[in-house]
Amino acid sequence: MIQRKSVTSSKEKTTMKKIAVIGAGLTGATAAANLVQQGYQVTVFDKGRSAGGRMSSKRTEQGYLDMGAQYFTARTDVFKQQVQLWLDAGQADVWPCTTALLCNEDGVVSLKSSKDEQRRFVGVPSMHSPINALLLGIPLITGCRISKLDYRQQSWILWGDNGISYAGFDAVLLTLPPAQAQQLMTQSSLPEVFDTAANLLEPCWAVAMQAEASPAGDAIFCQHPKLRFISHQQYKSGRNSCFVLHFNAAFSAEHLQQPADFWFAEATAVLRDELNIKQTIEPLVAHRWLYASQNDQTAVPGCIELPDHQLWLGGDWSYGGRVENAYLAGFALAQAVIRNYKLQQENA
Ligand code: FAD
Ligand code: NAI
Repeated sequence: MIQRKSVTSSKEKTTMKKIAVIGAGLTGATAAANLVQQGYQVTVFDKGRSAGGRMSSKRTEQGYLDMGAQYFTARTDVFKQQVQLWLDAGQADVWPCTTALLCNEDGVVSLKSSKDEQRRFVGVPSMHSPINALLLGIPLITGCRISKLDYRQQSWILWGDNGISYAGFDAVLLTLPPAQAQQLMTQSSLPEVFDTAANLLEPCWAVAMQAEASPAGDAIFCQHPKLRFISHQQYKSGRNSCFVLHFNAAFSAEHLQQPADFWFAEATAVLRDELNIKQTIEPLVAHRWLYASQNDQTAVPGCIELPDHQLWLGGDWSYGGRVENAYLAGFALAQAVIRNYKLQQENA
């Protein structure tokens, strides 16, 4: 949210518009913050115990573990301005990581320096801190999976699996991964909007292990039959000395149902044999993300607008995955809703 505008007449006209945002990841939080800034009444819902989505860090005895996004980059002006606000407020920091490349081609392993000049950022003290900052003061209902939507007489009712229904919304924003959004649309007898919903986002097993870092680097890109990225948290503000290994989509999908012990054994073998870690390695957490990363082969659909239903859909998947794209999607969703009500006012 970068606008810092004062109250305007258009704000007064929209004060009574009630918007439900489903999903408290970065897309939902960005959309909510921008709409509130323009005078809309927003309530955010999430099935998780707290906001964050795929930017969530897990709170443990070892401190925060970043199980999802490891860092973010900023390439567009709009996101660069937002990141600067987070940096100024101490809600984000630069990650002074050393990049490296781990290759394993047919069992031939190499680990080499791959230094670059890219600025990479992390939330502080957790990856979801910037999301909490965006949502500050906005009603947020967590632990509530929305299982059905009902549009009657130009007003939405949301049914939560906590047995509670929430009524009286003028519009709904769905900021969920496509497969989950489509499931909710189908359960609500709403149109099918994704051709390839099931394939847009692919899975990722994420495994946190306590161990000293490798001298080669702490942001290790992988060209590897099993892995996508290995991160060490030592230089992330507020974190401890832990690795987080992200297994790639193909390997994660192939072993999707395996228990945590399988993943701890795989992670230990990589750290010992390929990163040459000699000291103690302790397994900490294994987490399965069913919808993690964009499938490169699938075209990006942009945000989806259904103004006849007062329903908008978007997420990182709209523009190609990544934290920055989630922010851009949230921003675009808010602009679409604002544009829609402006048009309605002009035509009234
Ligand atoms: P999400 O964060 O998925 O938010 C959707 C929210 O909807 C969730 O909180 C979910 O609980 C909620 N929800 C779902 N269904 C319902 C329902 N029925 N009712 C209520 N709530 C519901 N990006 C980077 O830029 N850099 C990285 O290093 C990076 N690494 C990653 C590593 C992993 C393992 C993963 C999983 C992702 C990574 N990403 C990375 C991608 C990045 O995390 C995402 O692009 C971004 O966080 C997506 O935000 P979002 O708001 O669009 O979706
Ligand atoms: P970025 O510019 O750091 O990385 C983009 C891609 O460029 C990397 O995936 C890597 O392939 C390559 N790369 C960049 N620097 C490199 C270096 N020094 N050495 C070797 N290769 C390098 O960041 P950007 O564009 O913001 O991407 C976000 C990151 O999020 C990527 O690393 C991506 O893989 C990761 N991601 C992971 C997901 C998962 O499920 N594990 C889901 C979505 C994103």
